[in-house]
Amino acid sequence: MTARGVLIGCGFFARNHMQAWAETPGTQIVAVCDLDPGKAATFARDFGATAFTDARVMLDAVRPDFTDIATTVGSHRALVELAAPRCGLVICQKPLAETLEDAQAMVLACKAQGIPFLVHENFRWQAPYRALRRALDDHAIGTPQFLRLTFRHAHDIYANQPYLAKVQDLALTDVGLHLFDMARFLMGDVVQVACQTQRLNARVTGQDAFTALLRHRSGAVTSVECSFHSARTPDPFPQTLALLEGSGGTLDLGPGYRLDLHRDGTVTTTDVEPPVPAWGARPWHLIQDSVLAFQRHVAEVLTGRAEPQPSGADNMETLTVTLAAIRSAATGQTVRLDGGRE
Ligand SMILES: NC(=O)c1ccc[n+]([C@@H]2O[C@H](COP(=O)([O-])OP(=O)(O)OC[C@H]3O[C@@H](n4cnc5c(N)ncnc54)[C@H](O)[C@@H]3O)[C@@H](O)[C@H]2O)c1
Repeated sequence: MTARGVLIGCGFFARNHMQAWAETPGTQIVAVCDLDPGKAATFARDFGATAFTDARVMLDAVRPDFTDIATTVGSHRALVELAAPRCGLVICQKPLAETLEDAQAMVLACKAQGIPFLVHENFRWQAPYRALRRALDDHAIGTPQFLRLTFRHAHDIYANQPYLAKVQDLALTDVGLHLFDMARFLMGDVVQVACQTQRLNARVTGQDAFTALLRHRSGAVTSVECSFHSARTPDPFPQTLALLEGSGGTLDLGPGYRLDLHRDGTVTTTDVEPPVPAWGARPWHLIQDSVLAFQRHVAEVLTGRAEPQPSGADNMETLTVTLAAIRSAATGQTVRLDGGRE
């Protein structure tokens, strides 16, 4: 049986969602909605759906099996609360919310209806990170002890997303939360956060770089480095590079999707580059493939074959780390999340 879905927000990134839904077995987007009638009409035409400009009208008319929210953060809470009583599953783009209070309200709105709630946190679904997770599960490097994540580039992200140039905690809220989620995905719960931010590009309003240090409950440590103003040739965007050290070896994810496993005095290299979707293009294929992987996972959740990955409740933990990093950068203090004294 095909699950009938609706999409809210026909903007820049939602086109990837729509292309990927078209390749996700068992799902069909039957209606799309945008406040801008021109954008809704374009998506409806391109993807064979019905166009709406009012999410409530669309949800009441369609009563879909699932709702995919691809708007920017300010509208997320109202739209999740609108969708939860009118459909069978809700997906919301990141950042889930600006405050834990809003995030909690969204989680509770879905819980009250007894429906799954997922956050479109696709970075943990990137092919290289699924390979790292599999290597950990296979005990390739023993107990993980240290992780370094690096996302530093000078790609012009403002061309497609001009609103980013005015976001105050830009690097932390746009990509930082993806990186913190990857750190949690690989190393587990975070109990302490210290962070420094920088404004490197004079053309933008906010802090477009940060360096964060995380302590995990296991005792492992993660260093996260992110900048949108770091010149490199070739530019590694949108890859996140990683160094993951364990008690029995090291995994080194380098540029060009090269994954080296250092163990017992030898190095084994694997190519972890994802395929370029027929509708995609380099260098975006890394992201596009992860959207496809995430949405195929949603199809499994819809049929009861998988648990949400990540759920809204899980993503609140990532938001907690992100907000702690913002607080740490503002105060110069380490923030403890385990109830201990700061
Ligand atoms: N996961 C990723 O890799 C990734 C990458 C890029 C962007 N994003 C996220 O995707 C979200 C959207 O980003 P974007 O760059 O596509 O933004 P965008 O501004 O291009 O698109 C958002 C669209 O939502 C519409 N909209 C807003 N409120 C609405 C409402 N109440 N009802 C109907 N339509 C509404 C707007 O008119 C706009 O067309 C952001 O939260 C961003 O952080 C995620």
